[in-house]
Order: sequence, then structure tokens, then C-alpha cells
Amino acid sequence: MKRETGIYKTTTTAGETVRAFVPHPLPPLNPPLLLPEPLVARLNATTTAVQRLTLAGAMVPSADWFLYGFVRKEAVLSSQIEGTQATLQDVLTYEATDRAQRLDDVREVCNYVDALTYARRELANPKGLPLSVRLLCEAHRRLMQGARGADKQPGQLRRSQNWIGGTRPGNARFVPPPPEEVPAAMAALEKWLHRPDPLPPLVRAGLAHVQFETIHPFLDGNGRLGRLLIALLLEQWGLLPAPLLYLSLAFRRRQQEYYERLSAVRSAGDWEGWTDFYLECVREAAEDGVAVAQQLFHLLGTHRKQLLEQRGVTIPALQLLELLPLHPVVTLNGVIELLHTTKPTASKAIAVLEAAGLLRETTGRNRDRVYGYREYLEVLTRDDAPGPHSAPEPARAQSKSRSKSDSAGRRHH
Ligand SMILES: Nc1ncnc2c1ncn2[C@@H]1O[C@H](COP(=O)(O)OP(=O)(O)O)[C@@H](O)[C@H]1O
Ligand SMILES: [Mg+2]
Repeated sequence: MKRETGIYKTTTTAGETVRAFVPHPLPPLNPPLLLPEPLVARLNATTTAVQRLTLAGAMVPSADWFLYGFVRKEAVLSSQIEGTQATLQDVLTYEATDRAQRLDDVREVCNYVDALTYARRELANPKGLPLSVRLLCEAHRRLMQGARGADKQPGQLRRSQNWIGGTRPGNARFVPPPPEEVPAAMAALEKWLHRPDPLPPLVRAGLAHVQFETIHPFLDGNGRLGRLLIALLLEQWGLLPAPLLYLSLAFRRRQQEYYERLSAVRSAGDWEGWTDFYLECVREAAEDGVAVAQQLFHLLGTHRKQLLEQRGVTIPALQLLELLPLHPVVTLNGVIELLHTTKPTASKAIAVLEAAGLLRETTGRNRDRVYGYREYLEVLTRDDAPGPHSAPEPARAQSKSRSKSDSAGRRHH
């Protein structure tokens, strides 16, 4: 045991007596978290990678250019960690057409984007909410919007006991604080976020994530909201100009270790081990983001040249190409709107890009056709398959109301 990070409180829930963990407020103490040489080296490498991501984001005239795809990429990956099957391709298609195969999953991803957009707007507005429990609750409300979240007390700190891993509190891997402890624990976290602290902000954002997951303040959505908190903090603390980092890529790749590291903070006080792991994940994700940004930028340059040399090229076709990074999936109606033009002109623009091999029709239908910016999407949606990395034990075994009603259901059978 490196240090004690909280106390256990005996509580009765669902007729069982269990030990719920109540974390001490941040920062880590007794001993404080110091950054020994290997961690400092790790921090420096990660800081460099994050700075490169900032630079990559500045390559293009509009910051939104990469942000559009990268925010959605994070939304998809973070949701996949929780078992969502939707892919980025599904989400982009849904945004262009209002149709989707896995509609509920896709909506969940869109909710994440809404929650992030909402929180950033509040933080950017001098009259908006500061980074606070209230802001997180409001973001949670948006994350849980729709049928799936309706019974998850959207926007509210939980009022009942939850647990992680296992079918009931008694055999759970981890029982977070009793509900009556949650408001104070969250208030303490909020306070620490606004207090000066000698730890580097990049490290602090990682600590805040662990603390949030340990408190597990909501009935559901804690994983996604806790990762969204990292994105908000990195921007708020000036490490990135916008949420360009899709950190969940690295967490998804090492999901097992991600959960183990969270647990080890609680059970062994291992903040150092967490910090090492988290910094490595940030570095990996930032480097991936830089590589993808460079490839996308390069692709557009190549395609612009190619199109200029294409026979029969029109100005609307060139204009459409420039808009594709923000709309990599389009329909004819979409292009009419984007170019503020007529149907024949829009059709022609699409036809030119199709002939150049840049756009590809994806439905095979004659009506309601959908076009994808093929090579661009290939780069952006690499790592798109939900695959076996999504939600192994213990994510699936989440308590929450879903399993609660499961077990209630079983009793009836
Ligand atoms: N052993 C653990 N200790 C603390 N937190 C954990 C542990 N295992 C998983 N978690 C966190 O809990 C999250 C899942 O909680 P949940 O409320 O279901 O979030 P979501 O609905 O976004 O899935 C995981 O993504 C992870 O961040
Ligand atoms: Mg969940």
C-alpha cells in the first residue's frame, strides 16, 4: 500500500451490508504525489506530443476542420468503451441523412457531442457556468437524453447506491460512496479544480478523472462524462486550444489495464502508476491525432490539385471539395444547401467529384443517394470497428439500473 486514498463506510443496500469506498479529497497525500525522474520524462514526452497536436490543428485555415471529425471520433470511441456498437461512419451518415442502422447507439454518440458542445459554450461564455458540479450535471442531462437515459436520472447526482462489476453490491468489484456522500465529494473535487496546485495541469486532469470515476456520481454515463471532463480541463487549462485529443482511442486499446489502474488507486493508493499509464495514453492518442491530421491535410492538397487538372471541373465542384472535411458524408440536398445553389449545379458538382474518384456513392440506390469522401473517411475512420475491445468484463457487468432491472426480472421468472 503506497498510501490510503479513502475510507470504507459500511452501508446497507438492497438488503445487503456492503463496504462502500469514500475517497479522500484531492490532492494525493501521505505521501504527496511527487514526479520522480521516469515520470518527469514521461510528462515531457507527452507535453511535446500535445503541443504537436496543437500545431497540427493550426495547419488549416479553420480550427473546425479537424475538430469536426476528431470530436466525433472521441465520442464514438468513448461510447464504444461502454459497449456502444455505433461507428464513426454510422454517425457521419446519420448527421447527413437522419438515418442510421443502429439508431439508439448513434443517438448516444450524438448526445456526447451535444454534451461537449454545451459545456464548451458555457465555459467560453463569461456569463456561463464555470467548471463545476452544476455544469457536469447539465452535461449529464444532455448525455442521457432520449429513451435509453430516461431512467438514469439525467442531470442529477444519484440518490441510490451503485456498484461496478458483479451482479449485486455484495459481489461487486467496487462499491462507490453511498449517495449521501456524493454531493460533498463532488464539491471537494470542484474546489480542488479551482485551487492552485503545484502538480502540472496535464497530470491534474488525469487525477480529476480518477476521482470522478471513484465517486461515480451518476447512475450511468460516468465513464463518458469522466473522459469528457479530461477534454474540458485540457482546454480550460490551456493545454489544447480545442478538444482535438481523442484519448479514448488509447483507453479502448488498453481497456483492461485502464480499469485496473483506476482500481489500484483505490486499493493500493497507486497514483503514480495511474499517472504513468494516463500520460502514456495521452501521448499515444496525441501522436495518432498528429499523424491523422497530417494525412488528412495532405489528402486535401492532393485532391485539390487533381481536381484542378480534371476535365470539366466547375467552381462549385472545387468549392464542394473544400467543404468536405466538415461534411465528409453528403447527400444531394445537403450539397444544394452547402453551396446555396440549384439542384442541377449541385448534381454537377457531385458528378465531377465522383468522376475524379473523390466522392463515392454508398447506398447503391437510385434515390436518396449518399456520398462519402472516400479516402478522407478511410483515414478518419481507421480504428472504427467496435470489435472485441469494447466492454469486456467488468464494464458489461455494470450494476446500474439496467442490471438492477435484470435481476429484478430474473426473480419473476
Ligand atoms: N474498477 C474501477 N474503478 C473505478 N472506476 C471504474 C472501474 N472500472 C470501470 N470504471 C469506470 O467506470 C466507467 C463505466 O461507468 P458507467 O457509469 O457505466 O459509464 P458509462 O455509462 O459512460 O458507461 C468506465 O468507463 C470507467 O471509467
Ligand atoms: Mg454505462
